[in-house]
Amino acid sequence: MALRAACRGVVRGGLALLPQRGVHTSLDPEVKAFLEANTEVTNSGSLTPEIQLRLLTPRCKFWWERAEQWPLGDPYWAIYWPGGQALSRYLLDNPEVVRGKSVLDLGSGCGATAIAAKMSGASRVLANDIDPVAGIAVTLNCELNRLEPVPILTQNILDLKQEPWDLVVLGDMFYDEVLAHGLQRWLENCFWAHGTHILIGDPGRAQFSGPSMQRQVRCLAEYALPEPTRQDNNGLTTSAVWNFQPQP
Ligand SMILES: C[S@@+](CC[C@H](N)C(=O)[O-])C[C@H]1O[C@@H](n2cnc3c(N)ncnc32)[C@H](O)[C@@H]1O
Repeated sequence: MALRAACRGVVRGGLALLPQRGVHTSLDPEVKAFLEANTEVTNSGSLTPEIQLRLLTPRCKFWWERAEQWPLGDPYWAIYWPGGQALSRYLLDNPEVVRGKSVLDLGSGCGATAIAAKMSGASRVLANDIDPVAGIAVTLNCELNRLEPVPILTQNILDLKQEPWDLVVLGDMFYDEVLAHGLQRWLENCFWAHGTHILIGDPGRAQFSGPSMQRQVRCLAEYALPEPTRQDNNGLTTSAVWNFQPQP
């Protein structure tokens, strides 16, 4: 199976290149070189052409090669997911939502939403992803967009004491049932403990569309996905931004 198609749940080993989990401070030169050699810099085909990203595209050899050849874990960070695209578009179009605010991008992947938050004037941005390679991708993508690197946390934040963020953003994080359940509980705590503003980008995934979640969200904006994103996402045509606001 080709890598892009396999990027939906298969975990691979062979991580000789992999940095340690924790707060990411420096770029491992070997991983950096691997990412630069095996991704393409692009700003086309997404909802945010003003953000450049290193992504896995059909012009990269691993798009076509068998997934078993890939030496890292699943490269979720090399795809700009429809949920993240809608969320980033929303932050760029509505900078007042982030200006002067502390922002946590939970499940940051390639870091596009963290980058959109910075571009729109957030005072502090933390990108969090449990994949340490995603942390490196975020740093490279900040550089591409001529931004200071955002700090990266690669621990599972769902296991840590909650900080009082002004805004928590999550792009396309409701793709797995167990994760979705954990996120929902964590977001409820965040909302009730700190009054945190919570925005979710989601294209209508099953785990997000159930009644227990839909009772707690309100749609703020919906975007038609560009044709290349539709083609890569099996028939999805739109993606939306939702305000998470549980009722007592
Ligand atoms: C579908 S991707 C979305 C990436 C990005 N937000 C976007 O929309 O393009 C989901 C990301 O969440 C990360 N992830 C999964 N579980 C996580 C957790 N408990 N905490 C933080 N990140 C997590 C994965 O490593 C992956 O990069």
